[in-house]
Amino acid sequence: MSILDIQVLGSPVLRTETVPVKDFDEELQRLIDDMFETMYAAEGIGLAAPQVGHTASLAIVDVEKNPYVLINPEIVTAEGHDRAEEGCLSIPDVYGEVERATRVHVRALDRHGQPFEIDATGLLARAVQHEIDHLHGKLFIDYLSFLKRRAALAKWESSKPKYPALVRRVSTLDAQHVVESGHSEDEVL
Ligand code: NI
Repeated sequence: MSILDIQVLGSPVLRTETVPVKDFDEELQRLIDDMFETMYAAEGIGLAAPQVGHTASLAIVDVEKNPYVLINPEIVTAEGHDRAEEGCLSIPDVYGEVERATRVHVRALDRHGQPFEIDATGLLARAVQHEIDHLHGKLFIDYLSFLKRRAALAKWESSKPKYPALVRRVSTLDAQHVVESGHSEDEVL
């Protein structure tokens, strides 16, 4: 397994609609394993394929040590709404309050192509919605009000020089930074 580079805001792949996965081959298994390794190294609770430069409809989440692989996922029903702060591994140092459904019913394929469904609530529901958005080129900052979005983008402009070529190399320093910035890993997806 290897840790992959994470694409950061400005990288076109983050705004690209993904393509459904059809081949559940060795290459896909390797990508999934590498994505888990990358997500854990970056102290995130979710990661979508576009964030590591792939246009496959594939995301992973792990909330409270419950890993899920979501392939070609679809939200079947959504109910309730709740606002909470979110961050994104592709927009380091930027956080914002986002309104999401409190409960979602999701249909997806697992890593071997077998269909399954999950009924997600709380942080898992939030993580799943954030990741499925990534598969459609959507980012959490898109939900912010004009002023909050402008402030978030200004913050990002000051952090951006740390990521040459719009790539974030994950190291143990990132984990340290999450702690120092006062944000828990639970908010970064
Ligand atoms: Ni994200």
